Amino acid sequence: MRPIVEVMKLCPVIPVLVIDRLEDAAPMARALVAGGLTVLEVTLRTPVALAAIAAMKEAAPEAIVGAGTVNNAALLADAAKAGAEFIVAPGLTESLANAARAHDLPLLPGVSSAGDIMRGLDLGLTAFKFFPAETSGGAPAIKALEGPFAGLNICPTGGVTLANAPSYLALDSVRCVGGSWVVPKDAVKAGDWARVTELAAEAAALKR
Ligand code: 3PG
Repeated sequence: MRPIVEVMKLCPVIPVLVIDRLEDAAPMARALVAGGLTVLEVTLRTPVALAAIAAMKEAAPEAIVGAGTVNNAALLADAAKAGAEFIVAPGLTESLANAARAHDLPLLPGVSSAGDIMRGLDLGLTAFKFFPAETSGGAPAIKALEGPFAGLNICPTGGVTLANAPSYLALDSVRCVGGSWVVPKDAVKAGDWARVTELAAEAAALKR
């Protein structure tokens, strides 16, 4: 199993994907990889999400495809069966951390406070999604949390854009950011995969 920190270091942006039509999964994966983004998070928010994970892995073998919105241990088991290579959750529970360990899957759970981070550290975790990033204080909040907590690996997600991503990526603890802006709904609807590749290339060029 590749540690979650290694996954976080591969690309500056993890696209957060909501896939409504299974037929979009393969061209979306190819478009993102063509732009240089190879770590993809498929949120388990639509009926086709689990099938989309397999379709993306088949269409773009160089991609590392994870499952997001994994809110409990049962969903984590579903994601594991579907071939997810890492797990993202909006928050952190002990049962989710135990399930990730049992399935030998890298976990990126959400935190937004010092207490959340302390619970995560107690569970042996040092890598977290900071969620929802913009409304939880943004980059200044993460910078403040770096004081008491050394050695964190953070992926801010929620309200992150191409414009504000650099302020996050400049922080010591931030390895990558997550965001949905790379795959706009209208581009998907129109099958405008060239636009997705363009946005992915802009995101992949962000400096850390
Ligand atoms: C989400 O859960 O949808 C992610 O946090 C993405 O947020 P964004 O749409 O603000 O990028």
